[in-house]
Formats: sequence, C-alpha cells, structure tokens
Amino acid sequence: MAERPYIVGNWKMNGTRAMLSEARAIDRAAQRYMRAEVAIAPPYTLIHAVHREAEQIGIGAQDCHAGEDGAHTGDISATMVADAGAKFVILGHSERRADHKESNALINDKIASALDAGLRIILCCGESLETREKGGAEEFVLKQLKASLPRIDDAGERLTVAYEPVWAIGTGKTATTKDIEAMHNAIRGLLDDTYGKEQSENVRILYGGSVKPDNAREILSIAEVGGALVGGASLSAESFLGIVVAASETEEA
Ligand code: 13P
Repeated sequence: MAERPYIVGNWKMNGTRAMLSEARAIDRAAQRYMRAEVAIAPPYTLIHAVHREAEQIGIGAQDCHAGEDGAHTGDISATMVADAGAKFVILGHSERRADHKESNALINDKIASALDAGLRIILCCGESLETREKGGAEEFVLKQLKASLPRIDDAGERLTVAYEPVWAIGTGKTATTKDIEAMHNAIRGLLDDTYGKEQSENVRILYGGSVKPDNAREILSIAEVGGALVGGASLSAESFLGIVVAASETEEA
C-alpha cells in the first residue's frame, strides 16, 4: 500500500457539542499513532468546532448538496462544508442512497461539486444481502463504481473508495476475509483500468461495516484494504483508538 492506512470515523447523525471531548481525545491519539492517517466526519453542526480544536485529524462532511448555492432549504453545499473546515466529503453512502433515494446521477453531480470546492472524496459502494446471496455482489459493486468514478487526472490525491456491504453496516456482521479480498481486488482492477496503475495505487480502498477493535487487525491486514470507514465504533475515542492502533501496527504487513 503506497500510503498510510486511512481510518475514518463516520459519526452519522450522532453528536452534540458534548462529543467534542471525544474528538479531542481522538485527535490526541492520532498524534501518538502517526503511522495511521486518522479522520472523522462529524455531523455538519460540529464540523467547524472540531476543525478549530483538532491539530492532527482530518475533518470531513458526510454529504453535500450538488448545487453551488441558492433556494434549497435545509441543504448544505460543498463550498459551505469546505468553508467550515472540511477537507473531504463522504458521498454515495448506502444510508443516503436508501433514506434519500440518491441515484448514481445525483451522486455524480455531488462529486463534481465537491471536487470544484477543493474537497477530497470518499466514494462509497456496496451490495445488499439479497445481491450477495444471489452471487452478483462483484458485478453490482463494479457497476455502481463505473457509474460514479470521476474522470480526473489526480485520483491518487483526491479519491478514496469505501466498500461497505450494506448488510454489514451496524449489524455486527462482517464479510469474510476471502470475500473482502476478492471485492477489493476487483475494485483495484477497475481503478487500474480507469486511472492507470500509477494513479490507482494511491487510491485507498477502505472497508466498512461493523469494524471494531477486535476485528480491525484481521481486516486491515488484507492486502488491498487501505483502511476502514467506521461507524458505531468511532463514537467513542476508546474504541476508535483500538482500530487506530491496529492500523498503525498493520501498516507494514
Ligand atoms: P458501522 O461501523 O456502525 O457498521 O457503520 C459503518 C458505516 O456505515 C460507516 O460509514
């Protein structure tokens, strides 16, 4: 893996200002474990506050609107999250695809807008349990990605892909090592074809879905796993730190 493992906490719709102490503790831990790159995506309302306090961790948003500005009550643009201190945005998360009926076309527009605002992208993909059981997981995920990978020359700098099987999110179930390896290899093949090997090798492919301190080491030691996108276990500094430590120890595996 060309770069440090990337451990990203997605706080989802969790966190009030009381959670800033967890963000501070995560930031302090990140300063101790520099062999991993650590980031969190808090809710919009905390981005600026975390940005002001954090010295080491990257700060991102969990979504953005596709438009630049205008009459979209309740929405937040990529420019706004960048202005608040975000350096990246998670796009295409399965919860947004499900809860907000986000299509690949809409996700593409959001990616374009985020790139214009200077943000890095974490593009999520992943199949449902039904698709996996039918044996079509790989085809589904590659199709999802083909529809959304941005045509950019600097993918290695700006793009991260996160493979999150929908059935593994928040369920305590994780894909088998063999399945993760096969899917990440397939995604790598697509990235090689799309961007060329030189750019592709700098695009990290994260795994997400019930990553915890006790399974992180095994998952992060899989060859094409370049880090983890962590939901529940990122909400406390203690459990998130367990994953960061595992990442910093598996870096040279
Ligand atoms: P959990 O780690 O809670 O399963 O969530 C994963 C996820 O969706 C991260 O984006």
